[in-house]
Amino acid sequence: RPRVFSGIQPTADSFHLGNYLGAVRHWVALQESHDAVYCVVDLHAITAGHDPKVLHQRSRVAAAQLLAVGLDPERCTLFVQSQVPEHAQLAWVLGCLTGFGEASRMTQFKDKSQKQGNERASVGLFTYPILQAADILLYQANAVPVGEDQRQHLELSRDLAQRFNTHFGPTFTVPVPHIVKATAKITDLQDPTAKMSKSSSSPAGIVDLLEDPARSAKKIRSAVTDTGREIVFDEETKPGISNLLTIYSALSGREIDDLVAAYDGKGYGDLKKDLAEVVREFVTPIQARTRSYLEDPAQLDKLLAAGAEKARRLAVPTLLKVYERVGFFPPV
Ligand code: TYM
Repeated sequence: RPRVFSGIQPTADSFHLGNYLGAVRHWVALQESHDAVYCVVDLHAITAGHDPKVLHQRSRVAAAQLLAVGLDPERCTLFVQSQVPEHAQLAWVLGCLTGFGEASRMTQFKDKSQKQGNERASVGLFTYPILQAADILLYQANAVPVGEDQRQHLELSRDLAQRFNTHFGPTFTVPVPHIVKATAKITDLQDPTAKMSKSSSSPAGIVDLLEDPARSAKKIRSAVTDTGREIVFDEETKPGISNLLTIYSALSGREIDDLVAAYDGKGYGDLKKDLAEVVREFVTPIQARTRSYLEDPAQLDKLLAAGAEKARRLAVPTLLKVYERVGFFPPV
């Protein structure tokens, strides 16, 4: 079976609909057809300062949510990045193959370092995409299910795989992005031209999976919509309504065309009210399952440790090969 790898950062108290619809939903589906490896990337979550206790808890909550939305430890490998030291080890080697200018051109780095102030931004923020490449290449992943915002990072992963293979002999599978267009960029409810983002959206722009559905309903009701009153799907002229239709369609399984037909003659308010209800129905069981995983943290930690063992069995052979190829001594 072809292998997929993907990761998600534990940088918030909940995943939002963008994370779920753009990526995690596909992770669940890919368990059926692929050898699937998924990771809570806590190493990536410390680039901008953090509280250790909060990070630890968020990693657990992230894992619990992944299980709650349908990842099955019997059918995939689910683990926390810090339990597999090979990620950091490979990242060093790949970092030495990455040009300073090449890393400087990563748009997420440029945006975030600008926001934090160039002097204050950490070197970890700069090398972040190299660690991401290590995550993927360590597992010889064929495909990487992510949202549109990760495309440039995946391009770097591909370049680094090819570069290593050229310099040192065939070692890495060159991964392809798995980006499902319809939901690849869920937008901010308050700014439908920007992506819904843990780090840059205001709370009113984000619908979190674990928040009170009454709160989500309120946000959906106040979502910025477009001029005119007709409910049509057109991302150019009606980005707000199109985003709501995208979310509605993905969560309900109804085609966008069917929704547009069903709302013919109705108003934005009707659509918003019904979408809030769809969200409520969707998140309620997920919230209950997440809570139940979190009720027994020892059991959850055990499950994650078992996942990390499985992951290491896949990661170690790649790292050994890399060490040999570059002329290092094997780990003892
Ligand atoms: P992160 O934690 O920011 O987001 C997790 C996943 O959610 C997707 N996503 C979205 N998709 C659609 N619309 C949105 N508004 C939206 N917001 C987020 C992201 O594209 C991502 O797939 N760098 C990664 C984490 C990572 C990783 C990896 C991913 C580390 N190592 C290796 C893949 C492979 C990140 O920050 O994701």
